[in-house]
This record gives sequence, C-alpha cells and structure tokens, in this order.
Amino acid sequence: MNHAFACRLLLAAFFVWPTLQHAAEPDCAAYTAAETTASGDDGSGNVAAQTQDGRFDTRWSGPGKGAWLQLDLGRLQKVSAASIAWYLGDARQYHFELSTSKDGVHFAKGYAGDSVQNTALQTYALNAARSARYLRLTVNGNSDNDWASVTEARVCAPAAKPTAPDSGPVLPRQPYLQSVGAGSAIVAFRTSASCTPLVRYGEGHDTSRVANAGRSDRFHAITLGALKVSTTYSYIVEACGSVTGVRQFRTAEAAGRAVQFTAMGDFGTGGSDQARVLALLGRATRHGELLLTLGDNAYNSGTDAEFQSNMFTPMAALLRETPLFTAPGNHEYESSGAQPYLDNFYLPANNPERTEFYYSFDWGPVHFVSIDSSCAIGLPGPCDRNHQLAWVEDDLAASRQPWKIAFFHHPPWSSGEHGSQLTMRHDYGPLFEQHGVDLVLTGHDHNYERSLPMKGDGVAPPDTSGVVYVVVGSGGAGQRAFPGSQPGWTAFRDNLFGYLSVRADASSLRGQFIDTAGIARDSFEIDQSAKKTSKVGKAAFARMQSHR
Ligand SMILES: [Fe+2]
Repeated sequence: MNHAFACRLLLAAFFVWPTLQHAAEPDCAAYTAAETTASGDDGSGNVAAQTQDGRFDTRWSGPGKGAWLQLDLGRLQKVSAASIAWYLGDARQYHFELSTSKDGVHFAKGYAGDSVQNTALQTYALNAARSARYLRLTVNGNSDNDWASVTEARVCAPAAKPTAPDSGPVLPRQPYLQSVGAGSAIVAFRTSASCTPLVRYGEGHDTSRVANAGRSDRFHAITLGALKVSTTYSYIVEACGSVTGVRQFRTAEAAGRAVQFTAMGDFGTGGSDQARVLALLGRATRHGELLLTLGDNAYNSGTDAEFQSNMFTPMAALLRETPLFTAPGNHEYESSGAQPYLDNFYLPANNPERTEFYYSFDWGPVHFVSIDSSCAIGLPGPCDRNHQLAWVEDDLAASRQPWKIAFFHHPPWSSGEHGSQLTMRHDYGPLFEQHGVDLVLTGHDHNYERSLPMKGDGVAPPDTSGVVYVVVGSGGAGQRAFPGSQPGWTAFRDNLFGYLSVRADASSLRGQFIDTAGIARDSFEIDQSAKKTSKVGKAAFARMQSHR
C-alpha cells in the first residue's frame, strides 16, 4: 500500500471533521452586528446571539410563522445582502423575507423567497443596495414545521468596484501586514524614492478612512487604528505615484471564536521547493487567518537583500492579505545579530525591553508566544537570554486563554539531522509544562516530525498531560534524511515539503501537515477536556496515537 493511500485511509477512518466550522461568508463582506435580537426563542437557550458566534452547532430558534431575527449594525451602513445558515437546512426549506430599516421602526422589504437546501452560509442579495442600520429576517415556517431556526446570520456590504490593478511605479517592496490585532494593524512597504504615502482603508469594502505616514521616507509602516475585532477590512496604498489594488485582511478573532492558521519554517530560499509550498499555502482557501514562520525566513544569512529576494518577493501575494508573525532562525543571526530581521518586521514587542526578538499575542482562543531560540541557546547577538526566559515565564503564567502555543526555531525534540536542542528542552520545557502550553512549533531540521505528548525527558505517562512538539522545517530548504530509525517518542515523521494547518476552537485543536500535493500526511487532535481530568486525558492520548 503506498503511503499516500494509507494516509487517506487513516484520515477516512479516524479523522472526521465535526460540523463546527469557521463561519466564512461566501460572497459577503460581513459587518459585525452591535446587537442581535429576536421576536422570541424556544426558552431552551437557543437565543439570537448564537447566530453571531461563528459556530454552526449553536442556533436561534423562534416559534411560529412570522418569527424574526434582527441585526443592529450600530450605525447606518451600506447594505447589499444577508448571509444565512439554516438549522437542518439540508433537510428543510425555510420560507423567509429580508427587510432593512434606518430607524428600527420603518422597514423596507429587500428579498422574499425560500432557502437554498444546505447547512452552510448562503448569501441572499437584496433587490438593491441601500443605507440601513437594521436588517430583519422574518421566517414564515419551513417545509417541516412553523419554527424559524438559524445557526449563523450576517449583514453584507456591497461588493467593491472591480479591483483595479496596481498602477504607477512598481513598489520595490509590496505591502505586507504586521502586528495585526483586535484593534489595529500595520501596513508596511517600501518605495524607491522618499515620499509621504498614505493608506486608504475601511470596514468591508469601504476605503474611505485615511492613515497618513506623516513623514517622508523609503521604508514605511503605517498603523491603521480604531479597528473592530473579528472584522474584514479593505485597504489601498498610495505612495510616490504608485497605487495598489484593493487588498483585504481580517482583524484578530474575538476570544470566543475559532481560528485557523498555518505555520512553516526553513523556507526562505527563493527556490522552486519554496514556490511549490507557497503555490498551495498561498490559496485563499488554505492560508487561514494568519501565518506563523518558524525561523530561517531568509537564507543564507538573513541580509536585507535576502529578505527581499527570498521572502518578500516570492510571498508578496500571500503577505499582503495574511497577517504574518515571525520567529528568527540561526541564519538570521548570521547578519549583524539579526539586525536585518528587526528592520524588516514590525512585531508586537510587548515586553519590558520593547524588543521584537520575542513577543506574544492572542487570536481567538489561542495565546501565541514567539521565542528567539538563537538568543536562548546563546548565539551572539543583542538579545538577553535571561530577560527573555523570565518574560516568557511571566507571559505564560498571565494568560488564561484555552490554548497556549509557543513557536521558535530550534526544536526541543527532533530526530532530524540536527537532533533535539537540549538547552531549549531543559530551559523552556518545564515552563511549558507548568503553564499549560499545549503545542510547540519549531523548524531547523528540514522535515516534519510530531512528538507524542512529552513531559521532562520522555513521553508523558498516559494519564497525565504533556506538551506536543512539532517540527515543521519543511517550507522549502533542501530536505535532509533522518539519520536514524524512528524514536519511540515520535508520533509521526516524514521527509516532505509542506506546511502545518491548525484549527482551534475553545474545546479542541486540530492540526494537519499538508504536503505539496495537498495531501494531509499527518492529522492530530487535542481535546481541551484532556487537560481537566486524567481519565479523559487518557482517552485523548489514545486518540492522538490513532492518528499516527
Ligand atoms: Fe536553522
């Protein structure tokens, strides 16, 4: 049996994605509703707010023909459609109307019809775009009964005018998104000559707000402020006569919502293997909401020119719409103590030293911590290893997020060419265990390898929780054979190019290693409940093994 076929069989047998999915709205630039109300509910907890939680396994249920759900956008907005997912929508057809209002009293009908028989979000266009604050969905029963039952609902902004191509001189560094959070984002780029550029931006397809650089330069990092959490924004860069097309990004998800992200390390070659990984990872359906890079972002020495040729040029289309959070690798340390790394990125630096070498941020239910492992193992540079260690401990101790994920370059557990980095294991492993880190993502060895849950210098006993270590040094740098046979602590390893895709909601975290053919070579799942009781922990441990 060939390996790919065996993996697909494993997936079919053990890996069943639940009905809970991220609520991406097709053909809909969705507004965030300020308030959601309804004519009533079933008294069993299926309330209106559950149509806004990004989950298809919760719903609003309203009794009787004429039951309505109302979304209040908080102020007048341009409205063109609504995106709705129906409870048991594949088995029932709902009869409904959409109407809008500026004042919440006088409503104008914009749509009347039947639901598409599907449980996914479906976008229903209004007969004309209009200015409105309120959208009301009125349901006149369904093919089974008189109930209205909706899992998710959104109000959509009008589609943008056809996206203009870039015009004027080509920017030597295309825009890339940095330090995107719940309330702000940085758009960075470079111009050939010095000038004072601006970014036009706004919610949904709107680009009526302006952020000006405020000073003339060739290197630019313009902060867009006062953004809303879990919201899609459009932006255009105007600089020295160059005007980019309309790009979009999404702010960090609120704590109660799910996140999907990708990760890879050891990719910055500018070569064909990196391009093959990016050809897949760069697709809108695959890159998720943010990208973590795990070091060795720009071979061979992390110079400024290498960052351009080996990272920003091949990744321009991805990085202009996908927030990027990096960690430095040993190759970045080969240039002036990683100074070009600091110059090329605009990272959160939320530590007393205000250094970008290490930082943390929250996105949905996850607390992410980026650590500089080159600093931690004593490679020469300006980063202070003791300050970093103390900060990581404080930072992990302070977070109450359901999931904690650390990412850096040198792997505490690896059976690849470089092997396990024991300083990282012994200095940081105890902190990860004490403060409930669930997953550690690294690179350095040019392969993919996932450990069993680990504790100390071995596999965590089945009735205790452990830390899962994953090497994703598979982003494009030349592969190297595993020097020895597979260790007992390895859950899965393979010498392939590809990236890791992770989806986490409040209760479970699921990861897949995707190769350049788009095949999921490894799948794993960690249950939140495993951390709470040793009994469930045992079951979760067994389930993780089943994905080997
Ligand atoms: Fe490395």
